[in-house]
Amino acid sequence: MKNWHFLDEAGSFQLESPQNVSYLYFPLVNEAGMMSAITPNLNGDIKANLNSFLTLPVSVEDLHNTRSARNFWVFVDGAGPWSVTGNSAKQTATQFTQDASEIFAMEAGILWHKVTRINPELGLKAEITNFIPASDDQVELMQITLTNISNKSLKLTPTAAVPIFGRSADNLRDHRHVTSLLHQIFCHRNGVLVRPTLSFDERGHLPNKQTYLVLGITGGGQAPIGFFPIVEDFIGEGGHFNWPEAVVCSLPPTSQAGQVYDGYEAVGGLRFPEVILKPSDTQSYILILAIQAEADTDHLLRRYGTPNDFERWLSTTQEYWQSKLSTLIFQTRDDQFDLWMKWVALQPTLRRLFGNSFLPYHDYGRGGRGWRDLWQDILALLVMEKMDVSETLWENFAGIRFDGSNATIIGSHPGEFKADRNNIPRVWMDHGAWPLLTTQLYIDQTGDLDFLLKDQVYFKDHLFERAQSIDQDWEPSQGTQQLTRTGEIYLGTILEHLLVQHLTVFFNVGEHNHIRLEGADWNDGMDMAVQRGESVAFTALYASNLRQLARLVQELQKSGLEHVNLAAELLLLLDTLQDKIDYNSVDAKQKRLQEYYAAVSPISGNTVAVHLPELITDLSTKADWMYTHIRTQEWITNGEGFSWFNGYYDDDGQRLEGDFADGVRMTLTGQVFTLMGGVATEAQAQKIIQTVDRYLFDESVGGYRLNTNFRQVLLNMGRCFGFAYGHKENGAMFSHMAVMYAYALYQRGYAPQAYKVLNHIYQQSINFQVSRMYPGIPEYFNNRGRGVYPYLTGSASWYLLTLLTQAFGVRGQLGDLVIEPKLVLEQFDDQGKTCVQTWFADRKLEVIYHNPDRFDFGSYKIARVRLNDDEIIVNSNTNGCQIARQMISGLEPAQTHRINIWLSTK
Ligand code: G1P
Repeated sequence: MKNWHFLDEAGSFQLESPQNVSYLYFPLVNEAGMMSAITPNLNGDIKANLNSFLTLPVSVEDLHNTRSARNFWVFVDGAGPWSVTGNSAKQTATQFTQDASEIFAMEAGILWHKVTRINPELGLKAEITNFIPASDDQVELMQITLTNISNKSLKLTPTAAVPIFGRSADNLRDHRHVTSLLHQIFCHRNGVLVRPTLSFDERGHLPNKQTYLVLGITGGGQAPIGFFPIVEDFIGEGGHFNWPEAVVCSLPPTSQAGQVYDGYEAVGGLRFPEVILKPSDTQSYILILAIQAEADTDHLLRRYGTPNDFERWLSTTQEYWQSKLSTLIFQTRDDQFDLWMKWVALQPTLRRLFGNSFLPYHDYGRGGRGWRDLWQDILALLVMEKMDVSETLWENFAGIRFDGSNATIIGSHPGEFKADRNNIPRVWMDHGAWPLLTTQLYIDQTGDLDFLLKDQVYFKDHLFERAQSIDQDWEPSQGTQQLTRTGEIYLGTILEHLLVQHLTVFFNVGEHNHIRLEGADWNDGMDMAVQRGESVAFTALYASNLRQLARLVQELQKSGLEHVNLAAELLLLLDTLQDKIDYNSVDAKQKRLQEYYAAVSPISGNTVAVHLPELITDLSTKADWMYTHIRTQEWITNGEGFSWFNGYYDDDGQRLEGDFADGVRMTLTGQVFTLMGGVATEAQAQKIIQTVDRYLFDESVGGYRLNTNFRQVLLNMGRCFGFAYGHKENGAMFSHMAVMYAYALYQRGYAPQAYKVLNHIYQQSINFQVSRMYPGIPEYFNNRGRGVYPYLTGSASWYLLTLLTQAFGVRGQLGDLVIEPKLVLEQFDDQGKTCVQTWFADRKLEVIYHNPDRFDFGSYKIARVRLNDDEIIVNSNTNGCQIARQMISGLEPAQTHRINIWLSTK
């Protein structure tokens, strides 16, 4: 098996003989909502949403099992049928034998896919390029170019075959046959159109207008000479898509333009005119695979119907994506790493466009993104996007309920949240913690502290008391905005939203006085300890968030503000202001929370002015209490003498971690958040690092596992313990948490240890022999080290963020630019140079570190900084350097500005 390798600076790569690796697929997408997955033999599906699949919906196992792939055949006179995509029974039969005579390679770039297949025996070469144009059409384009590489003329009969599913993914199992009876199949001059009469899906039985199209045209502008629109006619009795009678027996087309069929499974079977290719001659074909709300074939053919159009759209599309990625470019000593980072940098955009449901591993959900993803995507946008993202950020706050929980059904429009009609409503206890992290980054990158004072609505549906009760009075007709007692829409500041999220959970504690786990935390698999479970891990994050909130309020105070208006009911939770309760008492906390719930159903609409110093004291008091409580109660030392933080309590109220009869039980999550916010003292941090290395490090899977092997299906903790060990949320090297571990280590000043985490993930990802994935970061590496769930993972945002803001140390601090490198020697080139291009204050910056004497982390400090030709004064008492925002925003907008930084010994 050969590794892929990069071809150019745009990040394009090539993989020879991809047929020797399973589970590979590549994403194609545009902002208009077309989404495809494509494998080296052109399997994978094409869809616009859950209810609109042009081709058969596929899960990862289907990639090698289904025959419903995009296909293009030629019947070679005298030699028989050949599938240019490699999907003929004859070609697949030669896998694992010595007879495999075809030369096959794939190439891909951002965001296009190409395969080249040569059959020396036939004397034919085929190149097939697929991409989804960066246009406003839901269309995938495919060009097939055939070249005669023999020294004799070849007579070819070409047939395109793209099976058309034309309906909702639900219908794969739910009435697949009945829904084929809805199909109206039209033969158009250029292809096959399917417009079902009705759509049968969760929305009911609705009249359908959506059309699924497979159009084709030769490079010279010729239309097909006929069609095979019906599956059973195309494959023939006893045939199948990899050995269709129409092709194998070179049958004449069954249909002509104008013919209509109702009620059958359909295929875009397009017979093109016979062609004689002389030696070295080429002939190309374009296929237009589209989903249209109202069929407009002329529009599609006019726009995409010639080889020139195809080339033009291909380069427009490549430029479009390259320009998106041009805002963050790493130029380190390792070119391969820099190009790999391009793919990582693309991933948050892929997640934004695909959600979590539309690639073959992601075969669950109904589309859209989850609450965590919303906030994580913005992390990446904040460091990569030139435009103002405050609007998007602000819109997301409309999803917060007054009980601190949030809407979990997220609409497709910005700021659209839907009532959860699910019968098993769930609250993820970590959800309230993410918005502050993103808001903090936003304020640091922009200095827009006033964002905290912007008003926003709250979300309201029938769920209340963090899904513990149902509000019988709520009607969908009231809308999903929180109303006051007098029926007006209630608006509160962003700061108030953040306070609601943090104050409610502070009181929502279990019997050990940590925040209740509820439906789960970040680890979706910790979902079976709803009654008595507690997440110490996320209690630590909420604790540090409370400190952070106190700091933000301090900044508001510094800016001259004396008080903020808050919902009067919040005073119950700001208890130190008037009626302080004993924080050691779980009962007192729960009681206070109940009082708050009672007071806010519905809310009065009254607000009170709260003085900032009192607010700061309240938040700090709470945070301090939590810090001490976790530090003293949850620090455990085991029989081997290793210490760490217990991260959870199970549904029997027992500690999850420590020494057990069948081994040591430990989670990484419990360490990440105690490190990140400073709950772990310096001495504890050092011990944690040793313990994590002792129990969780495993080089063969790319680094740090999510947990040790608990060796039991813990029904009192969560479904993840039912997964085989080493997979997904049960002890895989789960990128997201591992990268957050690196982030926390950098924050605490453990740069070499943090680098080790990031580097192992990178090395594992590019080690194709084991990871068997295209460039990028996967959700996790399984027990065999294979990278799975590629492209759509929150870890990509965190990887970017960690590398830029921590390792390179280029970040905002309340709007000013801070430069504080935490690079290790290995990251500098032989001349001691390394560089990153990024945007800050709407200006393009090239930040170049010079470390000519090659000092390692810990022994260098910033000696000199020059912004273009201006020297910046460096405070020699700190490791970093701060550049006022005005200095950056005053720079010429159209240029790239250089910040040169020289490092010297401390
Ligand atoms: C996925 C989910 C994320 C969740 C995590 C752990 O991670 O998308 O919300 O917290 O599993 O259960 P991701 O795919 O983003 O890496």
